[in-house]
Amino acid sequence: MIAPTEPVLSSNSAAPLTQFSPAVDQEALFEKVIVIVGGSNGIGASLVELCCRNSAYVVIGDIDNARGEALSRKCLEQWPAISDPAMPPKPPRSTFQHVDVTNYQQVVDLFDRAFKTYRKIDHVVVTAGSMETGENWFDQKLSLQSVRQAPSTKDLDVNLLGSMYVTRVASVYLRHNRGPGVDRSILLFSCAAGFKETPGVSLYQAAKHGVQGLMRSLRPYFPSPYNHNLRINTICPWMTDSRTVLTKKVHDRWVKEGLPVSTPEEVAEVSAGVLADDSLNGTSMYVEGGRAWEIEANIDRLECEWLGEEPSRVLARGQKVLQEAWAA
Ligand SMILES: NC(=O)c1ccc[n+]([C@@H]2O[C@H](COP(=O)([O-])OP(=O)(O)OC[C@H]3O[C@@H](n4cnc5c(N)ncnc54)[C@H](O)[C@@H]3O)[C@@H](O)[C@H]2O)c1
Repeated sequence: MIAPTEPVLSSNSAAPLTQFSPAVDQEALFEKVIVIVGGSNGIGASLVELCCRNSAYVVIGDIDNARGEALSRKCLEQWPAISDPAMPPKPPRSTFQHVDVTNYQQVVDLFDRAFKTYRKIDHVVVTAGSMETGENWFDQKLSLQSVRQAPSTKDLDVNLLGSMYVTRVASVYLRHNRGPGVDRSILLFSCAAGFKETPGVSLYQAAKHGVQGLMRSLRPYFPSPYNHNLRINTICPWMTDSRTVLTKKVHDRWVKEGLPVSTPEEVAEVSAGVLADDSLNGTSMYVEGGRAWEIEANIDRLECEWLGEEPSRVLARGQKVLQEAWAA
């Protein structure tokens, strides 16, 4: 049963945000249950710690059991959920569950376990990602012989299919056990490569564009109080100092050129800011050097400039027909 609340705008295009300054007070995440898929390392791990520090309960889902279990133990010790003897005992501050996002049943099991432990889920974040830098699908050295061997689809499977599996399952679990007016959301991880060319990693780039597309397809549909009543947003990090930093060669050149690098903690802070701000739906936060810039509103706002006034007007009429046909 979906409890109707005030409708959330399907996009913030009416009020361009441009720079986003995350604000996370103790209240915002207090006793929220947050599932972080890909939370064992990097940006996800920083977000796990930030959420626990702000009194949220966190379920870490990841294929990396060793790092995920160690992180969960650290959170349990550092930020224990202290129960009042007169009240029912509080659940653990954090738990770890093995999940491979490309395995649908394992994704269902993750949410089942989270729901059984915490009786509700407030926010879901997907930071799990893959970039196979050595796997160029369109390598000009491919021959009539070598092209016969099927290439790896890992970047597509982890980044896009995984995000789609998690979003599908999360959209159902997030609707359960919520009071009126309670905010719930999904946050997906795209990349600067979700809107800009990145040479050599075509599959990764197509997958990250896919994550943007997934968010755009759901943002007008998810927030309706008569529908899922959820918000959905993406984070598009640029160079971030975590394990997946492209290659040492690129990173060294980057630093030499004085280009901005974010820390995982900075990207985690932007992510927490998006979770905490219940006015945000359908936004994409591009993060460079720790600063966040919202890009979706200006793409909409400036459409009549980059597409032309007349085509933009006709496109809007067609969109309206599609929307009405879909709703009918
Ligand atoms: N680091 C960067 O410079 C950068 C830039 C742009 C976008 N991103 C994106 O941000 C997100 C987080 O990146 P990061 O740098 O923290 O990466 P990371 O490699 O440090 O962490 C990714 C996590 O995903 C987990 N994972 C991988 N495959 C999985 C699977 N099949 N199932 C479940 N978990 C899986 C890994 O075990 C790891 O814990 C990713 O989606 C990445 O594409 C990162």
